[in-house]
Amino acid sequence: MTTETIPTKPELLRLQKVVDKLLTNSRKLRVLEAGCGSATEIHLPQDAFFVGMDISAKQLERNAVAQEKILGDIQTYPLPGGEFDVILCFYLLEHLPQPELAMKNFLQAVKEEGIIILALPNVLSIWGLITKFTPHWFHVWVYRYIFGEKRAGTDDFGPFQTFSRLSTSPKQLEQFALNHNLSIEYLDLYENFRQTDMKAKYGLWWQLFAGTVKVLSFGQVATDNTDYILVLKKQKN
Ligand SMILES: C[S@@+](CC[C@H](N)C(=O)[O-])C[C@H]1O[C@@H](n2cnc3c(N)ncnc32)[C@H](O)[C@@H]1O
Repeated sequence: MTTETIPTKPELLRLQKVVDKLLTNSRKLRVLEAGCGSATEIHLPQDAFFVGMDISAKQLERNAVAQEKILGDIQTYPLPGGEFDVILCFYLLEHLPQPELAMKNFLQAVKEEGIIILALPNVLSIWGLITKFTPHWFHVWVYRYIFGEKRAGTDDFGPFQTFSRLSTSPKQLEQFALNHNLSIEYLDLYENFRQTDMKAKYGLWWQLFAGTVKVLSFGQVATDNTDYILVLKKQKN
């Protein structure tokens, strides 16, 4: 194993089982971690070769997993065609003004029968919409003073500028997959731990607020499913 990562969050444990099932062939895997930052969230075989890519040189420097590093913008960087068995994209798409360019880049860079693993906020949730429509300085303030992350917003530490385009909603990414010869292997909608903690603190107020949003949006805005993981597989031509 290139990384000693052992998932602990429940959604990552569920994902790990799916990934283990999908990656049963014995060839040495070439993995791209797009927007790698400093962390890798899942466990891949011992001999997998990791390429880390990020727009921030500082984030790349902090990444101890990647054996090869690419500094670039995933929306425009010309990734080699048909190169990767696995593309990991954890919490990147929401930070892109044009996420569809990144998706097309992944599509041409993944091998046939290779997989793309996406994890991101659900823009059509209360959490997702609040994040989308509040300014970046507010996100930095929340991370520093509510979540207690003192370095937030300095030295290329998150939170990062967020666009959360509607094209990153679960339905729209599933549609992208169907239009581009990608099968949907797995979809898991879940609640991030920050909202779970907040609900425990403000239970009744939260229920009132969430109930109102649900009614006013005719059930279109999710209250609990703040985030999701989608696993796609490129089909043979
Ligand atoms: C929220 S962090 C996620 C880091 C890591 N994937 C994780 O899950 O912990 C988003 C990362 O995407 C990078 N990023 C933002 N825009 C990017 C772009 N256009 N191309 C490549 N990386 C980008 C940021 O520098 C940051 O490291």
